Amino acid sequence: MTSRRTRIYEGKAKILYEGPEPGTVIVHFKDDATAFNAQKKAVIEGKGVLNQRISEFIFTRLNDLGIPTHFIRSLNVREQLVREVEIIPLEVVVRNVAAGSLATRLGLEEGTALPRSIIEFCYKNDALGDPMVSEEHITAFGWAAPQEIDDIMHMSIRINDFLTGLFLGIGIRLIDFKIEFGRLYENDMMRIVLADEISPDSCRLWDTKTNDKMDKDRFRRDMGGLVEAYQEVAKRLGIISENEKPERAKPKLVKSD
Ligand code: TMP
Repeated sequence: MTSRRTRIYEGKAKILYEGPEPGTVIVHFKDDATAFNAQKKAVIEGKGVLNQRISEFIFTRLNDLGIPTHFIRSLNVREQLVREVEIIPLEVVVRNVAAGSLATRLGLEEGTALPRSIIEFCYKNDALGDPMVSEEHITAFGWAAPQEIDDIMHMSIRINDFLTGLFLGIGIRLIDFKIEFGRLYENDMMRIVLADEISPDSCRLWDTKTNDKMDKDRFRRDMGGLVEAYQEVAKRLGIISENEKPERAKPKLVKSD
C-alpha cells in the first residue's frame, strides 16, 4: 500500500510521504517509541494508531475553535493528510505543573502547581539534544521573527486553555505538553499554524484521582502499560469504545548502538 509513495522524511515516530496534491503531505504514525534523544528505543504495537486517533480528535477540535492547524483529515487509522508547512525549528513546551526536566532543573517536586503557566522554547536539533533557548536566541539566529513568536505564544496559551479543560472534563490533569508550529504559504500570504501532533507521546497526563501517569513517561521510566494507558485516554475522550479490542503485543525492546 505504502511502497509506491514517495517518502519525504522519516523521523523517530512518524514518516512523511508526498500527498496526493501539491501542498499536501501524508503523515504515517509509527509504533516506534524513543526517549532521551533515541538512546532508548522500542516498538510498541498499537501506539501509532492510538496517537493518530487522539491527535486527529484534538486537531479537529482546535480547527473548529479557529486555531489554525496543518490537519486536513485522517486517511486511515494510522495516517493523516496534512498541509505542507515549513516547520519552525522550535519545540514549544507549555507547563502547568512542575515535572520532568523543569522539576530537575529548578529542584521542584514533581506535581507542584506552577504559579502560572510557563512557555519554554527548545531549539529542534537532535545532534544538540534540543537545547532550551530564549527569544533572544530565536530572533538573533532568525529561527522565528518577533511577530511569529508572539503568534506562537498566543496560540500556545489558547491551546493550553482548551486542552486543560478538555482533559479535566475526563478526569485527567494536563501537566505539560510539547507542540510545534509551521509556516503555511497560501498565494502571497503566510501564516503560522499548529503542526506535528498532540498525543500522549507529547503530553504529560495524570489521572486526577490516582495521579497515575497516562503518557510516554511510562516508557521513559520503564513503568510498562503504555498502550493500556493511551487506550484509556482514547476511551475517556470517546474515540474508542469500552469493549474495543486492544491492538497490541508485548513491547519489544530494541537495543540501541
Ligand atoms: P521535559 O520535562 O522532558 O522537558 O518535557 C516537557 C514536555 O515535552 C513533556 O510533556 C514531554 C514533551 N516532550 C516531547 O514531546 N518531546 C521531547 O523530545 C521532550 C524532551 C519532551
